[in-house]
Amino acid sequence: MKKLSYHVLAALALVSTQALAAAPMPRLVQQDGHYALLVDGKPFTMLGVQAHNSSNYPNALPKVWAAVKDAHANTLEIPVAWEQIEPVEGRFDFGYVDTLVAEARRNGVRLVLLWFGTWKNTGPAYTPEWVKFDDKRFPRMLGRDGKASYCLSPLGEQTLAADRKAFVALMRHLKQIDEAQRTVIMVQVENEVGTYGTVRDFAPRGEAAFRQPVPAAVLARKKPPVPGAASGTWSEVYGPYADEYFHAWAVANYIEEIAKAGRAVYDLPTFVNNALRDPLEPLAPWKGNFASGGPTYDVIDIYKAAAPHIDIAGPDLYAPQSDSVAATLDKFQRPDNALFVPEMGNAAAYARYVYRILGRGAIGVAPFGIDYADYSNYPLGAKRTDQTMVEPFGTIYAAFAPLAQQWGRWALEGRTAGIAEGDDRKPQSLVLKDWGVSASFREWQFGAMGKDAKEEDYPPGTAAPNGGAAFAQIGADEFIVIGQHVRLHFWPAGANEGKRSMFARVEEGQFDPQGRWIMERNWNGDQVDHGVNLPARPTILKIRLRAY
Ligand code: DGJ
Repeated sequence: MKKLSYHVLAALALVSTQALAAAPMPRLVQQDGHYALLVDGKPFTMLGVQAHNSSNYPNALPKVWAAVKDAHANTLEIPVAWEQIEPVEGRFDFGYVDTLVAEARRNGVRLVLLWFGTWKNTGPAYTPEWVKFDDKRFPRMLGRDGKASYCLSPLGEQTLAADRKAFVALMRHLKQIDEAQRTVIMVQVENEVGTYGTVRDFAPRGEAAFRQPVPAAVLARKKPPVPGAASGTWSEVYGPYADEYFHAWAVANYIEEIAKAGRAVYDLPTFVNNALRDPLEPLAPWKGNFASGGPTYDVIDIYKAAAPHIDIAGPDLYAPQSDSVAATLDKFQRPDNALFVPEMGNAAAYARYVYRILGRGAIGVAPFGIDYADYSNYPLGAKRTDQTMVEPFGTIYAAFAPLAQQWGRWALEGRTAGIAEGDDRKPQSLVLKDWGVSASFREWQFGAMGKDAKEEDYPPGTAAPNGGAAFAQIGADEFIVIGQHVRLHFWPAGANEGKRSMFARVEEGQFDPQGRWIMERNWNGDQVDHGVNLPARPTILKIRLRAY
């Protein structure tokens, strides 16, 4: 098992000496391609939830906190809108931010603030009125046909200057109110950027920029998907992909200017979120089927080149199909891009993905719309807006909650893995160091399911896929397993291959708030003779195996 490298240990030591003065700044650290977000100087797994879009007002917060509590979340993601902090140009009002931060502290949760500025789901709806309706000063993009788009141009210099000024004011204010406590641990810059309906800005400013050579930083990172020139204009290098890639660069560049200026004032980690392009469809030039210019998987390299002050491009998961989720996670988790899922649907079908996402070593995850404001997210998410919506996530988060630090450290050390039941309901397996694990679903706890089982023969509560398990290999032969609705078999692999094996211990228990293991019982006999059967309720096991 890998040890923490010197530079990560040094970073941990530095932040702990700083802690004597003020809480250390949250920061992202990397170790052999695995990541952790350090909060208070220690790895922190974000068990997040995101509030509704319109809950960013003091009087709306009680319904948010109630859902946060039921969800056992340790982090709330919530918008701060440009329109609310700068309703009149140059006059800032941080009343909401002050209330939010104070109440988050009282509720014992951290905050991830979502800057709804120039773009919110690509549109300008969250800009102040003095921006929204001033097309001259804050130009919209033009389509190929010369018609104005709804979307503000990333090449509008005054738009950038005004957004940057507001964002910097926000970051300056956060520094003033939160430097000592670091309740705010990350900031999202803009929200689901890009443009629907036109691939890029065809106004004269867009045409002129499009004819410029591709910047060297982009050339160094983004290889053309089809043969093209090694350097030159966007068209020469990227052929049919040039329009989309140019727009991605323009948007990323704009975001970079905002993030860089904000971080110069208060250096919080930052990310952008993405309305996905279909991860299973063969790569093809933009044909109107996703928001051009957003940080889709195919342009992460362009974002990395153009926006070094953005730490992460994160996928928003709103397609619940398991093959699509798996493909998206594969594409967004990269040695240069920590896995972080800033949004996913709040329907029960998504809950099992928490195991897969945290098992893969993500720094965090957040279902969207975990908020008791009376607004249903169906069909994108849950039908109901009550405790039944929160419960599938809350029970899983409750199991992880005391481990938020420890899990983050294990993830940084590359010791974790995760499984989520597929839509095909088929068994899955994975190999950890010297041990394999297979998982099957829809099994009773005792004995095997007959081959000719009919729907009514399956265990209750398994009509839809909801099984999953996350593993942390905490020693050569020892695992922490958190899971539900799954049967597990462990087998000797790697250096153990060919040996026989037995369980030494299969302890069921809990972690106390200090992260100490409290055993309830040791599973043996019937409880392990038919595999390790994790029930409907998320259950924590500490398993020790021996190969002999
Ligand atoms: C993704 C966006 O980023 C959110 O702000 C919200 O609009 C959801 N879609 C819709 O539920």
